[in-house]
Amino acid sequence: MKNKARKLLIAGNWKMNLNSAEGAELAETIVSQVGTQMEVAVCICPTFTSLEAVAQKVVNSNIALGAQNMHFESSGAYTGEISAEMLRHLFANFVILGHSERREYFGETDAIVNKKTLAALAASLKPIVCIGETLEERESGQLNTVIETQLKGALAGVEPKHADQLVIAYEPVWAIGTGKTATPDDAEAVHASIRKLLTGLLGGEAAEKIRILYGGSMKPENAETLLSQENIDGGLIGGASLKAHSFTSIVESAIKLSS
Ligand code: 13P
Repeated sequence: MKNKARKLLIAGNWKMNLNSAEGAELAETIVSQVGTQMEVAVCICPTFTSLEAVAQKVVNSNIALGAQNMHFESSGAYTGEISAEMLRHLFANFVILGHSERREYFGETDAIVNKKTLAALAASLKPIVCIGETLEERESGQLNTVIETQLKGALAGVEPKHADQLVIAYEPVWAIGTGKTATPDDAEAVHASIRKLLTGLLGGEAAEKIRILYGGSMKPENAETLLSQENIDGGLIGGASLKAHSFTSIVESAIKLSS
């Protein structure tokens, strides 16, 4: 039985996959299968071009909508960018920030992730702030330093009152899209250390409320053991979120642990 103070959150990160028609179809199937249950929070994060079509499918359900990125300014001459206000206008509740793919391919730094996090919170979006180490960093003993630097960098200026809104995702880079998953014990150890860092930054009461998701090759076969760990409060699912049956089966595992 999970900690009732933190409802498990299963979030699907569709990355750069599915056009708006395909996205709407997948959202419709997910809604039909897990759209009325209340035990677990569920969120799907399509591409920007599918947000509106997916919003129409989830509108009367318990499935929340999320985006995969945003700019930190609210409007202006930022060609190709999207603001938090624009996402709110499409009824998005969540936004993934600082994903390792954005850090690696688009040069996002902790300072940029921090500006985006503060802008998302100010616009009443729930940021899912991603942190995680590369294999090289883990093997050279830098795991704790990397996690601490990324977490403190992303959360500068965040206040305890934001605890209900804030979500952290621990995604070891070497586990993303590789089929390699952190063992439940290894993942739990990092999650527990993140909770300790959050306690130092925001106080114990806030840290107990903040959900820490695991991401990196989470799938139906390993979801239950990962999600049963004390400090794993949900999953950020990539590949397995693109098929209704695998995504909803992870949601079912979370429901089983929550009821
Ligand atoms: P995979 O589930 O495909 O490993 O991706 C994880 C991820 O990056 C979610 O944001």
